[in-house]
Amino acid sequence: MICLLMVVLVSVAAADRSALQTLRQLDALYPELEHSRTIYVVENAPRLSVLAEPSKVIARRGGNATLPCKILRDENLAPNRKMRIKWTKLTSDYLKEVDVFVSMDFHKRSYGRFHGRVHLLNSSPSDVSLVITDITLEDYGKYKCEIIDGLEDATTVVALDLEGVVFPYFPRLGRYNLNYYDAERACLEQDAAVASFDQLYDAWRGGLDWCNAGWLSDGSVQYPITAPREPCGGRNTVPGVRNYGVRDKEKNHYDVFCFTSHFKGRFYYLMHHSKLTYDEAVQACQKDGAQIAKVGQMFAAWKLLGYDRCDAGWLADGSVRYPISHPRRRCSPTEAAVRFSGFPDKKHKLYGVYCFKGHN
Ligand SMILES: *[C@@H]1O[C@H](CO)[C@@H](O)[C@H](O)[C@H]1NC(C)=O
Repeated sequence: MICLLMVVLVSVAAADRSALQTLRQLDALYPELEHSRTIYVVENAPRLSVLAEPSKVIARRGGNATLPCKILRDENLAPNRKMRIKWTKLTSDYLKEVDVFVSMDFHKRSYGRFHGRVHLLNSSPSDVSLVITDITLEDYGKYKCEIIDGLEDATTVVALDLEGVVFPYFPRLGRYNLNYYDAERACLEQDAAVASFDQLYDAWRGGLDWCNAGWLSDGSVQYPITAPREPCGGRNTVPGVRNYGVRDKEKNHYDVFCFTSHFKGRFYYLMHHSKLTYDEAVQACQKDGAQIAKVGQMFAAWKLLGYDRCDAGWLADGSVRYPISHPRRRCSPTEAAVRFSGFPDKKHKLYGVYCFKGHN
């Protein structure tokens, strides 16, 4: 047992004060333990620790990011080339970790979708910051930097945040039709990913008000209210993000909050001599060397590029929308918003179309 406690102390005791606190907790847990033994361990610790400064990095899809991690090591410690550096990513429910990158001596390895996109910055021997290139929406989240040096082990956590926009989404099927896995697919099909709670919370602080509950990436179902009213949790409640808690990912059905970031390409309203059915709209974009735009692309263009156009147009999911950045009469007079005109009859209703031309 003593051996186990030593390991706990070495990794937890970052400063003398916290070491003392740890000691008190240990006293409470193991009253039979002799003091002289534990204090001896604390005087020797810690010889290794890691620092992430800043602990949050903001990037955009398609860009690069450097997640900071610096080794602080006792100078009296003999140099150790066998020190192992390990970067992992926490899953969106924070319950598991997936491997990102491991380095030991000359041996280096990156994993899964990080393969070929990650390397250590190595600006100095103690700098083990991780560089991620060509960032994707899935890269959003929390990363753990871990150093293993013989018996010593130290970790720190860095958050990778993305610049972007949250939008509520439901498909042509109608309201409350998506279980969690359908929701993941629905966001992906609209060039987005299921939003995290932090992303929805930031969107709520930015004024998002939506009275339908949607999935978030941690498996919870919530909705943001800035103007409390009777059908949305009650008139006499405080504004906030309303939480239904974690729901059954298979059995429960809701809408979803999607998140998207910058794109590489051009989003535009297609100039065409006549209004189109949905099928004609799809073909018209193809003829222009593009594709019919996705809902996420319209939100990204609107929010991140200030795109403004008062023409209702088809999008890939069969919905009709238009993005307004400058509110004016007849075009979303009261707020900047992506206006939604529903999922009209694809064969008989005529509208314009928004296209997207990707480039790498
Ligand atoms: C990201 O890094 C790669 C390789 O290090 C570089 O070629 C590329 O230009 C960088 N991209 C951006 C957006 O800075």
